[in-house]
Amino acid sequence: MFDNDKKIFAAPLAGITDKPFRTILREFAPYASMVTEMISCHSLVEQHKNCIRNFDNYADEGNIGAQIFGADSYLMGEAAKILADAGAKWIDINMGCPVPKVATRSGAGAHLMRDHKLAGEIIQSVVKSVKIPVSIKTRLGWDESHQDWIDLIRIAADCGASFATIHGRTRAQGYSGQSTLPNKPDLPIPIIANGDIKNLADVERVQNLGYDGAMIGRAMLGQPWIIGQICGTCDKPENIGNVALKHLDLIINYYGEKSGVPMFRKHAAWYSAGMPNSAQFRIRVNQITDAEQLKYLIKEFWSIN
Ligand SMILES: Cc1cc2nc3c(=O)[nH]c(=O)nc-3n(C[C@H](O)[C@H](O)[C@H](O)COP(=O)(O)O)c2cc1C
Repeated sequence: MFDNDKKIFAAPLAGITDKPFRTILREFAPYASMVTEMISCHSLVEQHKNCIRNFDNYADEGNIGAQIFGADSYLMGEAAKILADAGAKWIDINMGCPVPKVATRSGAGAHLMRDHKLAGEIIQSVVKSVKIPVSIKTRLGWDESHQDWIDLIRIAADCGASFATIHGRTRAQGYSGQSTLPNKPDLPIPIIANGDIKNLADVERVQNLGYDGAMIGRAMLGQPWIIGQICGTCDKPENIGNVALKHLDLIINYYGEKSGVPMFRKHAAWYSAGMPNSAQFRIRVNQITDAEQLKYLIKEFWSIN
């Protein structure tokens, strides 16, 4: 699970950390640990068509954990088996997603912070179903007055989880406000810190609080090399346009041109953020449906011959 000294992880980001993005990340950070986008246990076990996009063969992907979500302990175990067979190096259980469809209506994700009994049953079922390690990813708690993450992580450890990631916000905070982590409490399994970690100084800050590793989320958007810089395996690329072009090619190969070009628009916005004329660039990118035209525009924007 931990292939690098600093125990650096790329966070799961639904709609973003797909295979093409992970391929780009891996070029900059060959030894980082990565986590897939969250995958529904129902989709996996019932083989929903739309699941193909989230379900890869992980054997060639290095150190990668597959993240599942759901509220049915049996299906979670079955889903874990499918992902272990597909080459995931460990299974991560989502216990922090605040999206109402997941946390309120399905009783999964962040809801499990309110139902520790069910959380424990799910962890036990997943641990029993696979031979690879199992982790959980959770938040401080449901809201400001219910911050019982330490209890949940103790339960996870008792149920056989090998490590946990803690995002220093509550479910009620969503992704806003500051992530605040206290000194790492005394817990029986390694704890990876997550939330607002953007550079090596932030990693050192959470290490000084006693955490065993750090997980980087939104800081990777438009700058996937950040994780390699933190791991000490790359410098900032000389021309970001070359990264964007490579990423676009990977997306088109994976999803096809029709879906891939619109999917790349958000990445184009992140790669170009803060650069002169980026607003006009974004407007033009959003009008393009043809891959060759998009490549031409990227080359023009970043002055690539
Ligand atoms: C667009 C988006 C998608 C996310 N998808 C997932 C997910 O699939 N599974 C998960 O556990 N967390 C997910 N998260 C939460 C992140 O993994 C991370 O915990 C959070 O962004 C805090 O880290 P950061 O401040 O470094 O971004 C998502 C966050 C964002 C912004």
